[in-house]
Amino acid sequence: MTFLSKEQTQKNASVAPVLSQRGRAGMELLGSIQNYSSGQLRSLAKQQFESQLSANLATSSIEGSPTQQARRQLVKWREHAESLSSYRYERFIQRYVAEDVYCRGIPAVEEQRDTFERLASTSLPKHPQGSLQLDPSLDVPRYYDGVEWHLEPGGYDGYDLYGALFTYVAGPCVFKYGGYAAVAHGEDITRHRVDVVSQLKKSSYARVYEPGCGGFSTLAAVHNVFPQAELVGCDLSPLLLTNGHIHAERVGVKVTFKQRDARETGEPDAAFDAVIMYALLHEMPPDAGVAALREAFRILQPGGEIVISDPPPFRAVPAFNAVLLDWDTKHRGEPFFSAVGHFNWSECLQDIGFADVDEYALGPDQYPWVTRGVKPE
Ligand SMILES: C[S@@+](CC[C@H](N)C(=O)[O-])C[C@H]1O[C@@H](n2cnc3c(N)ncnc32)[C@H](O)[C@@H]1O
Repeated sequence: MTFLSKEQTQKNASVAPVLSQRGRAGMELLGSIQNYSSGQLRSLAKQQFESQLSANLATSSIEGSPTQQARRQLVKWREHAESLSSYRYERFIQRYVAEDVYCRGIPAVEEQRDTFERLASTSLPKHPQGSLQLDPSLDVPRYYDGVEWHLEPGGYDGYDLYGALFTYVAGPCVFKYGGYAAVAHGEDITRHRVDVVSQLKKSSYARVYEPGCGGFSTLAAVHNVFPQAELVGCDLSPLLLTNGHIHAERVGVKVTFKQRDARETGEPDAAFDAVIMYALLHEMPPDAGVAALREAFRILQPGGEIVISDPPPFRAVPAFNAVLLDWDTKHRGEPFFSAVGHFNWSECLQDIGFADVDEYALGPDQYPWVTRGVKPE
């Protein structure tokens, strides 16, 4: 999906009148309650959660291996949160908005379909600089098939105008407030991508690969920071790749978009000097994530770097935030959030052979969370 930065949203303010009064009002209402929920109610819930966290929830009273302890601890924290009406009310609003973005947003876009098709420019460019290589025979992994990610009806490919819905309607009306999943209230996810890409250590790169690129979001950030780099991205979703291709061509950036599995990219050994992995690993079971990282290691040159950004692990956040992240697994179409939250990507990179591995947060609520490594010379 593609969102606009706050700056771009302001420039596109004229897009709002494109919606009917009913469509605009409904989406803006969702934005207001999302803003209230994550901006006000959540701090009250957190305060109550922390002040009433009783001594019997301490880690020392939990038995088992460190992994079992971490899982059991999280269950206890969740039970404690669920006993608080402020937490339940805040989560009710989060779920309501997450569902209603589509229940209201799709009809709002449909009412003005011609206009949104024109705005999204759904036709492929006649003389592209970059390329779009779709492979309809590619096997869709079992973990991905049929999942309605983020509660999107039909999943990433479920509605042809999802690109327009996110860019021109849900982004500017609702998601601009932040405060969903790992994103803290008031944070700008376009800015996050630039900040994450800037964690690459050198001043220039020749060829950068993004596995699980979706469309042209993180690759756009790579282009902003390293304008000389040749860009290649892969994803499973033909719709996201097609939208990304159209978007990149519209702004004049050459990108090769390929429909490939991040675990088996088909790229030659040592073909890239950097790999950026943004918000991919939490959408895979951990074993698939490990396979994707092994593949990244293979396609990197010696001395090449990897920068990963995903929601923070449970071990890195306060108890209340761990409960919030865990909640997305059942309630916001993120089937692997919990499994991945317990996983350690930093250790995994070292096991694969990466050197100079480090991990740290760039923003509030420990997000974006960055894990980096270098393929030894
Ligand atoms: C949350 S999106 C992030 C997209 C993009 N990296 C960005 O910054 O906007 C996760 C993406 O991972 C893709 N994905 C999941 N499993 C994949 C796999 N095995 N191979 C390639 N892409 C995959 C999904 O289709 C989706 O586009």
